[in-house]
Amino acid sequence: TKRYTGLIEKYRDRLPVTPDTRPVSLCEGNTPLIQLLNIPKLIGKDVDIYVKFEGLNPTGSFKDRGMTMAVTQAVHEGSRAIICASTGNTSAAAAAYAARAGITAFVLIPEGKIAMGKLAQAMIYGAKVIQINGNFDAGMQLVKTIADHAPVTIVNSINPYRIEGQKTAAFEIVDALGRAPDYHCLPVGNAGNITAYWKGYSEYALGTETHAPVTDKRPIMCGYQAAGAAPFITGEFVDHPETVATAIRIGHPQSWEGAWRAQKESGGWFAAFTDEDILAAQKLLAEKEGIFCEPASATSLAGALHDIKSGRIPEGSAIVCTLTGNGLKDPDTAIAQCTTKPVTVDATLDSVKRAILEAM
Ligand code: F0G
Repeated sequence: TKRYTGLIEKYRDRLPVTPDTRPVSLCEGNTPLIQLLNIPKLIGKDVDIYVKFEGLNPTGSFKDRGMTMAVTQAVHEGSRAIICASTGNTSAAAAAYAARAGITAFVLIPEGKIAMGKLAQAMIYGAKVIQINGNFDAGMQLVKTIADHAPVTIVNSINPYRIEGQKTAAFEIVDALGRAPDYHCLPVGNAGNITAYWKGYSEYALGTETHAPVTDKRPIMCGYQAAGAAPFITGEFVDHPETVATAIRIGHPQSWEGAWRAQKESGGWFAAFTDEDILAAQKLLAEKEGIFCEPASATSLAGALHDIKSGRIPEGSAIVCTLTGNGLKDPDTAIAQCTTKPVTVDATLDSVKRAILEAM
């Protein structure tokens, strides 16, 4: 058996690479599709819920899929520097893949509004970190014009290679299940990922110029947003997005059209959930299944559970929720929402014994 060396090698014939392209890879992709065992019982519904745990990618989020493609292409074209605006995960991935390739990454992040783990990543990977007094959308506007003024390649998802890399998650799900799920639930921020999944599912179901179809259908796509940053619910951009799920604190999504296409063509829908709902889903998943994702990621489960309970997603369905990022990226939010704090006792057998018996 051949060693797994990343998603470009795995899906090479379905990606825009030439035979002489040398992938910049950290063995991203190939993430587990974990079936939930306890939560379906808890809600008393006969459904198969799987989570695609993208938090197990090399930098802890799905962004690695797009970044391996974008940086591979940037290097292939001779670029020496990349740039992105980010709520934290894209910047972590850009920083890591730039380090791997030996080029420079510039990252624009909203000051004070990204999770600590993500800032640590950008810094330790050696990115040039530029904090702005503005949100992600302001950073995005700057990045879109900067390429006309400096020799840098944009690696936000407006770079089509990002979408190409990210579509491989849909391939992996169909490969793992032997078919497409009935429903696919995603958190939606800048909307690149829902666009990418829909492209991946479509290529597998409809076939391409070079490949026959490998499955007979596509899932219904459910895009879930945080209530304070929900332009797909109102149909209008949001100027001052706010949510505890800082990864999706976005009001002007760049892949606006792509997300609407996924919703319309799949017969799916968008819905929004409060920060409270999102954090409750994050904690439920950790407590009941042993899976720790970041708040934004839990939006997919919050949405799925809501729509399963209401019957909008019917019993008997196979549902995949993408968990986009690892919970370890944002320990502050996790600790803050845990009501049971650690107890401190003397380092004696007696004290520890008493602590155990009191807690049982
Ligand atoms: N979940 C996480 C953990 C994210 O980091 C993001 C986006 C999303 C969901 C939403 O995905 O933007 O494709 O709709 N994070 C970007 C970033 C914006 O800069 O890291 P999307």
